[in-house]
Amino acid sequence: MANSYRVLRKRILASGIKEMDIYAPRIARVAMPGQFIMVMADEGGERIPLTLVDWSKVEGWIRIVFQEVGVSTMKLGLFEPGESLYYVSGPHGTPTHVSKLNTVVIVAGGVAIAAAYPIAKAFRDVGSRVISIIGAKNSSLLIYEEEIKSVSTEIHISTDDGSRGIRGFTSDVLESLLASGLKPDLVWMVGPTIMMKVCSAIAKRYGVRAVASLNPIMVCGMGMCGACRIRVDGRIRFACFEGPEFDASSVEWDELILRLQMYREEEQLSLKRFLEGGGHI
Ligand SMILES: Cc1cc2nc3c(=O)[nH]c(=O)nc-3n(C[C@H](O)[C@H](O)[C@H](O)COP(=O)(O)OP(=O)(O)OC[C@H]3O[C@@H](n4cnc5c(N)ncnc54)[C@H](O)[C@@H]3O)c2cc1C
Ligand code: FES
Repeated sequence: MANSYRVLRKRILASGIKEMDIYAPRIARVAMPGQFIMVMADEGGERIPLTLVDWSKVEGWIRIVFQEVGVSTMKLGLFEPGESLYYVSGPHGTPTHVSKLNTVVIVAGGVAIAAAYPIAKAFRDVGSRVISIIGAKNSSLLIYEEEIKSVSTEIHISTDDGSRGIRGFTSDVLESLLASGLKPDLVWMVGPTIMMKVCSAIAKRYGVRAVASLNPIMVCGMGMCGACRIRVDGRIRFACFEGPEFDASSVEWDELILRLQMYREEEQLSLKRFLEGGGHI
């Protein structure tokens, strides 16, 4: 039997984007779509939130997909099959509310396309028609196309430079689908905050209910530190346990965008030190 938190498999999906299966039977047993884990790669590292993309209750593994954007994700990317991560906790967060709907539109951008996979699958499994819109900067960064296709009734693809699918943003595709008369029961979105802000405004304009899976900075992941606080409908909410999903039309997007930039200087300094030290743990 593998040790807990042991890396079982690793796959490079695109430049700087990796998929990892980790042995974590206690988490796999109770994982639900929409939840996430907190990962500490090494003893001196920080805890970072990563979405549960897939899992096997029987075999006891969980799957994450992450983009190397700073020290913690870069450290994580250094682990190879057979090595064990320092600590993984979870599942955290409130699971996605999944029920049979006529039509659900899933919008996902960048590395978060992988995070949309368990949601599209869950809605498909209960008999909903799932229309997925996925987008990336360019074709080489477009991940999980086949996986999303396998759980969707229909898939639309966009890239910023037009190297795959339509040239433009996921929000352009959403706008054109709604303008053509599509009336989904729900638009569910995950991805860059600015993408979700724009998609939320489009859904609101067409009178469609929308839910966004938010990605504020998190430290504890369990409601104790307040790092993840966001304002929804004028009220402070803790995204780590009341979310990460919220009614998109009620989220104060500009405040969330500002809070995400709060530690930029420290993040850049810590990345500089990490790389100057040779980029290893
Ligand atoms: C609930 C939740 C689920 C997430 N799931 C995934 C996932 O499945 N895959 C994945 O790659 N990432 C995911 N993220 C984002 C991930 O946690 C951050 O990218 C990570 O913490 C960055 O740590 P770092 O030390 O490598 O980089 P840092 O040095 O902390 O940051 C580097 C850069 O990334 C930005 N950044 C930091 N935290 C976030 C964040 N929460 N959201 C967006 N940008 C951020 C910073 O502003 C900075 O520009 C999730 C975040 C949340 C809150
Ligand atoms: S991350 Fe600490 S309260 Fe949410």
